[in-house]
Amino acid sequence: MSFFRDAIERMDGYSPGEQPQGGKFIKLNTNENPYPPSPAVIRAIEQAAANGLVRYPDPLATAFRMQAADVLGVEPSWILCGNGSDDLLTIVTRALVEPGDLMRFPHPSYVLYRTLAELQGARCQQVSFQPDWSLPPEFSEADDNLRLVFLPNPNSPTGTVIDPQTILALAESLPCPLLVDEAYADFAQVNCLELVAQNEKIMVSRSLSKSYALAGLRFGFLVAQPQMIEQLVKVKDSYNCDALSIAAATAAIGDQQWLVENRRTILATRERMSGRLEQIGFEVVASQANFVWCTHREEPLQPLYEHLKSNQVLVRYIQYPDWGDGLRISVGTDPQVDACLDLLEARVSS
Ligand SMILES: Cc1ncc(COP(=O)(O)O)c(C=O)c1O
Repeated sequence: MSFFRDAIERMDGYSPGEQPQGGKFIKLNTNENPYPPSPAVIRAIEQAAANGLVRYPDPLATAFRMQAADVLGVEPSWILCGNGSDDLLTIVTRALVEPGDLMRFPHPSYVLYRTLAELQGARCQQVSFQPDWSLPPEFSEADDNLRLVFLPNPNSPTGTVIDPQTILALAESLPCPLLVDEAYADFAQVNCLELVAQNEKIMVSRSLSKSYALAGLRFGFLVAQPQMIEQLVKVKDSYNCDALSIAAATAAIGDQQWLVENRRTILATRERMSGRLEQIGFEVVASQANFVWCTHREEPLQPLYEHLKSNQVLVRYIQYPDWGDGLRISVGTDPQVDACLDLLEARVSS
């Protein structure tokens, strides 16, 4: 006998990347930032803890919204906070999609979108990128059952970017909201924040996990027009962000100098890493994120992943149905990246 909804029984569930809790792994598999966050973050957590955790936190994380509004040049009423940006993707899906409805997203991209569709009992339409990583015309087609479109920009696993003008035109042709998932946008040359005011269908989600080095904290936010935020607030858990994370995230986004310097370091390592991977014989997609996606004409990739893992280096090996496989390698510190590349070089050229 099953107690569960059919949709739950049928689905596999999302498998996050490996998160070993012991051992001394060099972790280049889930796009965390390898550097410590702004020192202001630690001070803010200590201060919030010293003030006590007896009371419930602010349900709307007002302190963060005000600080972020100031930094981003939008009104606080345009911002919704979440327990990581995954929480916001969940809220948006629950708010917009009913069983049998259609959700669209590109392929290959973030695997969680499919899980969110399956949780709702919705149908998904995964539209393959073109060989140059642009979107095919089908991605913009209207469909009466379409309720939500996800577009990760930069995309994962490729780090490729669709330009904002194309995204605006896409939103104009779609009959439903378009969530631009900007988990990696702080590492890119462009973003879609300014489009939110131009079309109410465009929503932008951001994460503090990658560019602010706070994956363990769980904090993200969504920027959308206030009438959209007003509806989404009804769907979220009352206290989806805790007092420590609100304090820490507010301090993190307040230290833009830290962000600028960290970004510069990550981008320099990314360029060096891409160049060296190419020298070793990999095909590397030009990335605007804090990871690179690479394939190899001759070498099978899964044994390379296993080889790295047996040497305490974790990268992400992904095999996409109907697409093929590749290695997604996060940008670590220079010594971490060199350790990974030395192992690959020795293995590939032996
Ligand atoms: C494209 C994309 N969106 C969202 C997320 C989730 O980020 P967060 O840690 O903010 O939940 C990830 C995490 O890997 C991601 O790759």
